[in-house]
Amino acid sequence: MPDVDDVQDGKDYHIGVPMPSNAFFLKGSNSLDWGMKNRLARIFNPATGKTVMLAVDHGYFQGPTTGLERIDIAIVPLVPYADALMITRGALRTSIPAEMSKPVVLRSSGGQSILKELSNELVAVDVDDAVRLNASAMAVQVYVGGVHEHQSIGNLVKVVDAGTRNGIPTLAVTGVGKELARDAKYLGLATRICAEMGAHVVKTYYCEKGFARVAAACPVPLVIAGGKKLPELDALKMAYEAIDQGAAGVDMGRNIFQCDAPIAMIQAVRAVVHDQEKPDKAYELYQSLKRDAHAVPDRS
Ligand code: R5P
Repeated sequence: MPDVDDVQDGKDYHIGVPMPSNAFFLKGSNSLDWGMKNRLARIFNPATGKTVMLAVDHGYFQGPTTGLERIDIAIVPLVPYADALMITRGALRTSIPAEMSKPVVLRSSGGQSILKELSNELVAVDVDDAVRLNASAMAVQVYVGGVHEHQSIGNLVKVVDAGTRNGIPTLAVTGVGKELARDAKYLGLATRICAEMGAHVVKTYYCEKGFARVAAACPVPLVIAGGKKLPELDALKMAYEAIDQGAAGVDMGRNIFQCDAPIAMIQAVRAVVHDQEKPDKAYELYQSLKRDAHAVPDRS
């Protein structure tokens, strides 16, 4: 029974001190409900407005690709350095300890493989399971211009609606087929469609010409994929340019986990994304962390 003895009158009402009504720190997100904002604030660091999301969901259509053969061995040590983990439910349940406190961006579309048409996806996770897994966002691939464009936009709409009922934001991933150009015109079209269909965050690729226009015309935070493995300095330059031109972070996979020294690389990427470190300096950091990691301990 609640204790009703010694109920004291309140004293500190701070009359005359207005309650702050601050805008939420992420663009396009101010009108969202508290749960959505709270989940987004777990993915994006409120101090910098940016995120380093580690993408390890490639197995959902590629199988055990290089670097992801054993997620329990190769990826778990990287998790402390990531702001969020993008992963399938199968990999999460089997290979990531539940003690991990990082927000999960749950891969929620799939249904095809590299052997078939990539755009032929369906919604591959029920929102109830996303809730059960404590997901901070659900991720859906959208293939604008692809064979199954209409179906993939339909998947996005279904996930946005289910997520909205449960306070879970949706990350739309702009998938590009081999036949689609990754230029500003195409990426601008694809990212804007995703945002207009209700995505709360959009993931796309960096393009050398016109990326600032792509980022400006996307009314929600934009994060970039790393794409195929590049030399480390080039990957850091790409991340730097994307952030400098308006991206709110990276959702990077192969350029981290396929690297010789993934823990060093993710820290160098963090320096670029959160501290706006110049690529050359971040590369020096990568090399020095890599040297330290590979140094043979002196046991004399
Ligand atoms: C691709 O379909 C997956 O969603 C990956 O998460 C995405 O491509 C990012 O990984 P990467 O940096 O390796 O391109």
